Amino acid sequence: MKPIQVGLLGIGTVGSGTFNVLQRNQEEIRRRAGRGIEIAMVADLDTERARSVVGDTAKVVGDAREIIANPEIDVVIELIGGYGIAKALVLEAIAAGKHVVTANKALLAVHGSEIFKAAAEKGVMVAYEAAVAGGIPIIKALREGLTANQIQWVAGIINGTTNFILSEMRDKGLDFDVVLKEAQRLGYAEADPTFDIEGVDAAHKVTLMSAIAFGIPVQFDKAYVEGITKLSAADIKYAEQLGYRIKLLGITKRTDKGIELRVHPSLVPTKRLIANVEGAMNAVVVHGDAVGTTLYYGKGAGSEPTASAVIADLVDIARLHTADPEHRVPPLAFQSNTLVAAGGELPVLPMSEVVTSYYLRIRVADEAGVLAKITSILAGMGISIDALLQREAGEVSGDSEGSQGVPQTDLIILTHATREGDMDTALAQIQQLPTVLAPINRIRKEELN
Ligand code: HSE
Repeated sequence: MKPIQVGLLGIGTVGSGTFNVLQRNQEEIRRRAGRGIEIAMVADLDTERARSVVGDTAKVVGDAREIIANPEIDVVIELIGGYGIAKALVLEAIAAGKHVVTANKALLAVHGSEIFKAAAEKGVMVAYEAAVAGGIPIIKALREGLTANQIQWVAGIINGTTNFILSEMRDKGLDFDVVLKEAQRLGYAEADPTFDIEGVDAAHKVTLMSAIAFGIPVQFDKAYVEGITKLSAADIKYAEQLGYRIKLLGITKRTDKGIELRVHPSLVPTKRLIANVEGAMNAVVVHGDAVGTTLYYGKGAGSEPTASAVIADLVDIARLHTADPEHRVPPLAFQSNTLVAAGGELPVLPMSEVVTSYYLRIRVADEAGVLAKITSILAGMGISIDALLQREAGEVSGDSEGSQGVPQTDLIILTHATREGDMDTALAQIQQLPTVLAPINRIRKEELN
């Protein structure tokens, strides 16, 4: 059978990796796919660079639309990124009857419903294994391997940049901005790291996992997103003393009221495997009712790890190209006519309805009755305390006396699970106490058991 013909849009890091791995492993890939997979055309604004990667093996063009217009091309790989031209090209490729492979989590998390609908109408596949956790086959696992299960929750370290920063903060006792600068100098963090450090990239990825875990549409606009920029070395150290590590987690959970969909720093017990995922590595834990807890670990970015996921999608497409569209795996795991409507039976819950436990660090004047006032406010909101530490403020931060010369101390409180709305009310009251001397640090805590 003639090799399936692929057009590649964008040949940067992942595109080059895809080309190289396809070349290197072509014989094994052909035996698995049942036919060859050939990158026949490459589009990149930098045609010189593209030629230096592919040589004479593929036609290089500067205009992506030349690929879309070519009737010989069966599959378009979109590796441009972002929502702008990438969205237009993906929709045009679908309209031209091409299957699409993309690593573009931002595009699918925000415009996925429109794109999957267009693909269904045209009878083509949109595959996106590389969009979540790079080389880890988590889409395959959630969509196919765990298909027997009612998924109960998914929690993942799905942004390598922030995990690298948090690992360095813990190892070296440094604050966020110092480590960020070092990460940028070493090339681990982008010059503009906003999407990573503010949690947006992780939120794109958890939005996709939420949709395929629960059979709901992609709803990035309903995700709660909080990054790591406010974390201090002191919180990381106190968490460690209490038996926890702080990780930026993407979490999605089924509850009686609806679906939780959130990204924020979380304390995770040090004894959990995921708490020990360090550096730029990614890991995802999935809990299904039948299988229990499963863990997936690996490289979440990089040239060949991401290429591994892109090529897995190409192989799926090569195998299913001639199949009746109704017999293919649905893009969001559930048959599209059974997806629960946004806001319907399984609404994405506002953060105030999320139930979780908390780490609180409260800088107070070190005088009689301060703790009693705080615990009485918590008790008044029905919030139960799990553990409590008092540390001289100077033990970590070197300023046990405030600017007014008042002796200060840090109260660190771990709570049992409570509704976030109740915690908000309690914290607003505690913050008003004259003996509370600084904004309260609140970090959510996940036991993941
Ligand atoms: N910027 C992402 C990360 C990789 O740091 O994990 C691509 O999603």
